[in-house]
Amino acid sequence: MNIILITGASSGIGLEFALQLDNVFTKVDEIWMIARRKEEMLKVAECMEHTTRILDMDVTKEEHLERLKELLADEKPCIRMLVNCAGYGVMGKFDTLQLAEQTGMLDVNCKALTALTYMCIPYMKRNSRIIQLASSAAFMPQPGFAVYAASKAYVYSFSRALSEELRKKEIYVTAVCPGPVNTPFFEIAEKNGKTLACKKLFLASAEKVVEKAINDSYHKRRISVYGVSIKFMYALTKVLPQQLILDVMRVLK
Ligand SMILES: NC(=O)c1ccc[n+]([C@@H]2O[C@H](COP(=O)([O-])OP(=O)(O)OC[C@H]3O[C@@H](n4cnc5c(N)ncnc54)[C@H](OP(=O)(O)O)[C@@H]3O)[C@@H](O)[C@H]2O)c1
Repeated sequence: MNIILITGASSGIGLEFALQLDNVFTKVDEIWMIARRKEEMLKVAECMEHTTRILDMDVTKEEHLERLKELLADEKPCIRMLVNCAGYGVMGKFDTLQLAEQTGMLDVNCKALTALTYMCIPYMKRNSRIIQLASSAAFMPQPGFAVYAASKAYVYSFSRALSEELRKKEIYVTAVCPGPVNTPFFEIAEKNGKTLACKKLFLASAEKVVEKAINDSYHKRRISVYGVSIKFMYALTKVLPQQLILDVMRVLK
């Protein structure tokens, strides 16, 4: 059985991946959708052509990950694509936020993503794909979003290294690094603070970001960056000293 496995499938970018991959992949038997909100995933599944499997899981809970591990061991599917979208960010100064919501970001964005990737690779074969949701926040440190940006820098670095390690197996890894995307992400992210106003000027649609990510993954690209402005920012972070950019950002606030 060929499957696609998507985490964070109840909302935003993950939900959009489910809808678009449903149309793109014809040689897949099932799409497995993972998130905590089962009802939301059921609504999405109703609009899809493929057989879907709804796995209501909290990816930070060991027992839920164990459940998935057992399911994989029982069914032994061939995972054609893993899309790791589950994640969240909370803005605000590090020393003013609750510790639990900051370490929670690391648990979902880094630890669970790593565990799920590890769990899925044995079920992949030549030409399987891994798509990891990083962010343009991975490109440099972000005061006021410090832990989130650091967590995405982890995803970016991990994905690039994994892509090299899996090259011989012909399993292709793409780190998706969008700027701000119009999703419910900001309902959580902005509960303590506001996004830099100029960032919102670059707000992209989930549809476009996902379309590009699927295309980049198809072409075996290691990074997917949507939009001219974010590509420009990516280039800047490669050539300018980070402190200079941090100084400019401080002035823009
Ligand atoms: N929106 C942006 O501006 C933006 C930009 C760059 C990167 N990203 C990244 O893109 C990814 C998707 O974000 P989004 O914009 O689509 O946000 P979103 O609409 O808030 O979706 C987040 C998804 O993660 C799932 N999730 C969160 N915690 C979970 C947990 N403990 N267990 C299982 N699932 C969990 C949520 O499902 P449940 O709540 O149902 O569990 C939801 O499906 C994230 O990794 C985010 O960091 C977003």
